[in-house]
Formats: sequence, C-alpha cells, structure tokens
Amino acid sequence: MDCLYIRIASYSWRVVMKKILFVASEGVPFIKTGGLADVVGSLPKCIDKKYFDVRVILPKYTCMKQEMKDKLTYKTHFYMDFHWKEEYVGILEAEVDGVKYYFIDNESYFNGFQPYSDNALFEIEKYAFFCKAALCILPVIDFRPDLIHCHDWQTGLIPVYLKERFQGGEFYRGIKTVMTIHNLKFQGKWSVKEVKEITGLPGYFFTADKLEAYKDANLLKGGLVYADAITTVSNTYAEEIKTAFYGEGLNGLLCARAGDLRGIVNGIDYEEFNPETDKNIDFRYNAANFRKEKVKNKRALQEELGLNQDDKAMMLGIVSRLTGQKGFDLIAYIMDELCQDNVQIVVLGTGEEQYENMFRHFDWKYHGKVSANIYYSDALSHKIYASSDAFLMPSLFEPCGLSQLMSLRYGTVPIVRETGGLKDTVQPYNEYEGTGTGFSFTNYNAHEMLGTIRYAEHIYYDKKREWNKIVDRGMAADFSWHVSAKKYQEMYDWLIG
Ligand code: GLC
Repeated sequence: MDCLYIRIASYSWRVVMKKILFVASEGVPFIKTGGLADVVGSLPKCIDKKYFDVRVILPKYTCMKQEMKDKLTYKTHFYMDFHWKEEYVGILEAEVDGVKYYFIDNESYFNGFQPYSDNALFEIEKYAFFCKAALCILPVIDFRPDLIHCHDWQTGLIPVYLKERFQGGEFYRGIKTVMTIHNLKFQGKWSVKEVKEITGLPGYFFTADKLEAYKDANLLKGGLVYADAITTVSNTYAEEIKTAFYGEGLNGLLCARAGDLRGIVNGIDYEEFNPETDKNIDFRYNAANFRKEKVKNKRALQEELGLNQDDKAMMLGIVSRLTGQKGFDLIAYIMDELCQDNVQIVVLGTGEEQYENMFRHFDWKYHGKVSANIYYSDALSHKIYASSDAFLMPSLFEPCGLSQLMSLRYGTVPIVRETGGLKDTVQPYNEYEGTGTGFSFTNYNAHEMLGTIRYAEHIYYDKKREWNKIVDRGMAADFSWHVSAKKYQEMYDWLIG
C-alpha cells in the first residue's frame, strides 16, 4: 500500500501595519469645544493597534490648558509658503494612551482665548493654513499615512490640496482620504475671490462641481467632492442629510455621492464615563446598586447648586452647547408650564446669548427648581449625568449626540427628539412590551415635547418599577467604541486595499 505523505509547509507572514492619520481642529484631552473633540480623543485609542498605526494632528492653540501644553515637546520647525507669505510651522509632539499626537504651531493663527473666533474670514485662513501645514509636515515627521481621516469643514481642504497639489510628488501619491461630517451646519464659506487668494488654488477649482456653492467658496464641499469616502456619525443622519431639510444646501452633492457615504454611530469612552469608577462624582454606583446609590448624587448636587432638597423631585439634566441646533426654543416655550410640575432642571453649558439669558432668567424666576450654570466644567457634567433622573435633548437636528450615550451609561433616562443619532441610540419606551431605554417624540413641537416629558414623569412617579427597568436596559446597552471602531477599520481596509 502506498503511503501518503502530507507535507505541511509552515508559512510565516508579516502583518503590514496600515497607517492612518486623523486631522482635526480639536481633540480631548488637549482642547474641546464640542463632541468632535470627544470622538477625536477616543476613537484612535480604540482602533486595533495590531493592524493600524493611528496618529493625530491638531493645532497648538495658545488657549490650551497649561498642564496640556506641558505635555508637548518641540520637535522642529520650518517655513511654508502660504498666502503670499512665508509662514512659521512649528511641530510639537505628545503621546497619550499609546496614540501619537502632532501639533502645528503658529501663534498668529492659533492665538486667542478660544479655539474659534467669530471672524469667518480669519477662520478660513487659519484652517487653510492648518490643512496645508498638516500635509507639509508629513515628510518632516517621517510618517506617510495610507489614509488621512479628516473631520469637519476645518479639514475640508486636505483632500483638495492632496489630490490637486501634493499627489504629483512621490511621497503623497496614492494617499486616500475620508471626510467625516460631524455637523453639516458648519461649512467654512466665504467669497470665491478671497478664498482663491488665501488657498492659492487656481480659478478652475471654484466651479459648482468643486468648491463653489451658491456663489461662495465652500471648504467642506471641497472635502466632500475630493474625499475617497464620506462618513457621518449615525445612520439616520446619513439619510437625513440627503434631504433638503437637513442637507444645508449640500443635499444634492450628498445624493450624488450616496454610494460613498455611510453612517457610523459614535461611541463614548467607557473608561472615562463609568459611574463605578468616576472620580468626579460623590457616590459611585453600578447597574446592580443604582436604585439605592444614584439618589445620593442627586442629594449632593441639590446641595451644591442650591436646589430644593428633595429626593423625590424628578431631576432633568441638560449638558450642551447652547445653540439653536439643540432645541432650546422648544424648552423656552414650555418652561413656565413645565416648572408647575414637581421637577428640577439643571443646565450646564455656554453658547448663544439668547439661550444663556433664557436659562439665567428661569433660574431667577424658579430658584430652587432651576439651576443655570452658564460655563463649562467636565466635573460638573459628570455630576449631572450621575445625579439626574432624566436627560433632555430635544434637538432640531443631531448628527449623533454623545450626551444621551453618557446618560444611558449613568442610568439617566434620555428624553429626545427622534432625529439623527438620537433616533438610532435611544429606543423609545413601550409600556405594553416592556421595552425601551428612553422617551422620544417625533415633531419639532414644544407641546409634543412637553407631553413626552409628562409621560416620563408619570412613569417616574407612578410606576417606579417600570422606570427602574428602563434604567436597567439603558445601563445594559453597549455604546462603547468597539463595534463602531471595527466599522471604521473595515472601511480603512476597503479603501487602502
Ligand atoms: C457634533 C454634532 C454631534 C456629534 C458630535 C461628534 O458636535 O453636533 O451630534 O455627536 O459632533 O460626532
């Protein structure tokens, strides 16, 4: 009988690391004005380091906290042609949680008490400089990314410059780009004439199929036209922005690029937002003991903010940029009615003056029931998530929204309008099936919202067991990054090949 020999060859292979570069105008823990910073600070950490080398470029703002500036080390500098001048480009470095950060320094652009100013033209010039500098530093830091992941309008020029200016050079050839929309409302628009001068791009870029939109130059549009793929931060928002209501004038383009557009819902950092270990809150708790422990935080916060001491009063939290997007017109409209109920309302955030003053007014009028904290504090935000019974987020539009995810994590029941990421992440309570993690309403209508809040009050006061089960389900939901980070990785793989 013949013998059958099977040779097993042993192959060895090397995993080729794919190099990804995030470029954004803000990122936690260095600088934050909104949810963009949370995403830029938490997503890179969660991308699998076995297969991907992810690095991040941010501006070095002079308004960064000193303790953060102390973490940066100077690497080098050079001068770059920009807007008829030779501009200084400093490069600094830092490493946080295994992710390498680079900072672009130029104090004439990145000075001021805040990252962003009200001078739209200056903002355009500042971020045009940032985009060009971000590409120019790559050979200097010796990092040739396979893909550049751009975030919001401030980085919209990167795909444009890359495709039309840089890809002639060997180093840049073949680099892919992704443009992520965190908020379509902000696009970086200014007159064609001036943007042409600032960017140095020739006239033929400023046509309707490229950077021009409604007679202006539009930097986000440039990014959306030139990027290899487009993402936004929830499935529902990815659909909504193809319509005229949510499309902010770019719905036609987004429809045309629908095949390259996908929604990937944001996650949150489950280490930073964890009621069991959170150092910012007075009483730590978890899904097993929240029924007893959570209320202790409410008591402490009532005392800290001068609210009436009342364990029973349903506390509604709001932590937000105070802008029209967030639905504050609805709240202003029904605030007097709502304050007749046994509720307390705690607000934290800054933004448009009319909303800041609106909340100050109601704090004065219903002192003891309403607490308006018109500033921003990370520590207080955590206390509000931990102390409130419900969290109110009636947004007009919401690309993803992170506060509702933080609320779910802290056993605080979200009350939201069914739009964008709010619709995708909060499952409405169904009393017949015993399902759901929050409460929601459909139309942008103040009394529809009030009706929903009052329905939530009814469950809270009259059906406490049901309420607690809603909390149980919310705390069990998983909005950590690992599911969404995989989706980004799949997209990177697919684009890089
Ligand atoms: C913007 C959006 C918000 C989103 C965040 C992060 O702030 O308004 O909905 O969660 O970006 O993607």
